[in-house]
Amino acid sequence: MPPAHPLHAVTHPDPYSYYATLARDQPLYRDATLGMWVAAHPETITAVMRHPAARVRPADEPVPHGLCPGPAGELFGRFVRMNDGAAHARLKTLLVAFIREREQENEHEDPHESAAPPPLPPATYDAAGVDRYLYAAPVHAQSAFLGLPPALHADCAADIGSFLHALPANAGADRTAAGHAAAARLLTRLKAHLAGPHATPALRQLIEEAAQDGIAPDLVTANLAGLLFQSCEAGAGLLGNALIMAGRRRVSQPLTSEAALALIDEVVRLDPPLHNTRRFMAESAEIAGQRIAAGQTVLLVLAAAARIEPQADWTFGAQRHACPGAALARRHAAGALLHLLHAGVDPAALAARFRYRPLPNARVPQFDFQEDSNP
Ligand code: HEM
Repeated sequence: MPPAHPLHAVTHPDPYSYYATLARDQPLYRDATLGMWVAAHPETITAVMRHPAARVRPADEPVPHGLCPGPAGELFGRFVRMNDGAAHARLKTLLVAFIREREQENEHEDPHESAAPPPLPPATYDAAGVDRYLYAAPVHAQSAFLGLPPALHADCAADIGSFLHALPANAGADRTAAGHAAAARLLTRLKAHLAGPHATPALRQLIEEAAQDGIAPDLVTANLAGLLFQSCEAGAGLLGNALIMAGRRRVSQPLTSEAALALIDEVVRLDPPLHNTRRFMAESAEIAGQRIAAGQTVLLVLAAAARIEPQADWTFGAQRHACPGAALARRHAAGALLHLLHAGVDPAALAARFRYRPLPNARVPQFDFQEDSNP
């Protein structure tokens, strides 16, 4: 059975011919089931992304209601990913420059070393241990990349996990409370580190350059947390889908760093971790001959556009909000894959039994589950 609609496709076993047909036959349409517009062709997605009325958050809900009031909502509202206009542009320029400089410093590092494997006890790499590792590894690697000391990595990964759990509208009171506590702890930890003697020169320079641009230190700190957050779920999907591809191809060790990077590139093209994103119309607009009313939502099906332009890295977005962490995410996933293979994880066994987490945009496998349980 093909997917019923583009959100269903994210967790479908093989949605890619459906995506190709969607991109070709329905480049921009109103989906009555979803109550949203759907853009599925590179040209229509680009047109929506470039339209000044297309925003990354709904005008009447800049922060999800469930997170307000409280530290998790305050943090969310400060992320560059969740803002448009001048505030977004200034922060984006600053963060991209910081990421590029750090990347150049690390250019010659082997992916295996830069992945900074989380110090989980080796015995925990059963299916549940792999599931935990998928979400923890990208945050550990990103923490190391930012120059945070290893002693902070595990706490950062745990707090990002709790914050992520608080985001769905149906998160419930306990998860929301845990998300607020995690956001507060994360910011306190990052602030203390930045003000202390062990902050790297690069981080100090970032804060100074931001101040010269009139960007407050707290906003920069929130966006360092934002980089950890952005790396997490999509990174989990990239690594998980790489394990499945490795398992189906009967890949085992030894795998060179180059071969691991090549496999990750294939996953980005053939079974990407992020399938869609959204834009919210602040004003009505005419796009590709269609009238989209103010207040309506457009689902941008990145995984469909990738069927038309396989080399274009659609899973990392495009235009103003394009992901600044694409190269990093690849290296970190390659390093984490090597780490798991060296630890003796058997990708063929994992690929033989998994399901996808029921997420609306990210394709993240889950290896530990009861047959009869809800995902
Ligand atoms: C496999 C991993 C990743 C994938 C698939 C991914 C994908 C994306 C996508 C699709 C967007 C744009 C969303 C939109 O336009 O609505 C985005 C934005 C962003 N990503 Fe990534 N990302 C990944 C990893 C990372 C990492 C490791 C970082 C850390 C540097 C990062 C930082 C960001 C930031 C800061 C933004 C917001 C950019 C903006 O709003 O201008 N991402 N990412």
